[in-house]
Amino acid sequence: MTDAPARQRTLVLVKPDGVARGLVGEVLRRIEAKGYTLVALELRTADADLLAEHYAEHAGKPFLGPLIEFMSSGPVAAVVVEGHRAIEGFRSLAGATDPTTAAPGTIRGDLARDWGRKVIENIVHGSDSPESAAREIALWFPSL
Ligand code: PPS
Repeated sequence: MTDAPARQRTLVLVKPDGVARGLVGEVLRRIEAKGYTLVALELRTADADLLAEHYAEHAGKPFLGPLIEFMSSGPVAAVVVEGHRAIEGFRSLAGATDPTTAAPGTIRGDLARDWGRKVIENIVHGSDSPESAAREIALWFPSL
């Protein structure tokens, strides 16, 4: 008998641009169509303290202030997604950070663009490692 593959959880955020453009359903559709499971889902407007903790690894980077301002500008959909290799899998679904060069077929490549504003608006966030996922899920969904 083989062991069941380890399930992995990742934190996905549909950012304020994605929520404002009515793309929450489209992002969730792609996650579910890929075969991952939604474990928790909440629409909320994050404050600067939560976002400073969320983006702690980017402390000191020049884009952090504008990024926190953008991320607190409206509601985000916070989602915990589960499945074997879900962290890597969702980042593949999301595509490259820069929406101009993100590959067609990805969320950012199909749905996002550069609007010429100071902040990169790229629809989604996905945890980048098991350590980040555990930290971010505990931050956004402390009861999980
Ligand atoms: S880094 O520096 O390589 O770690 O950056 P990267 O992984 O590409 O991006 C980390 C998160 O910062 C966001 N980002 C930006 N936001 C606004 N403006 C600029 N210039 C910018 N550069 C990077 C990027 O979208 C990532 O956000 P999340 O929420 O993690 O996707």
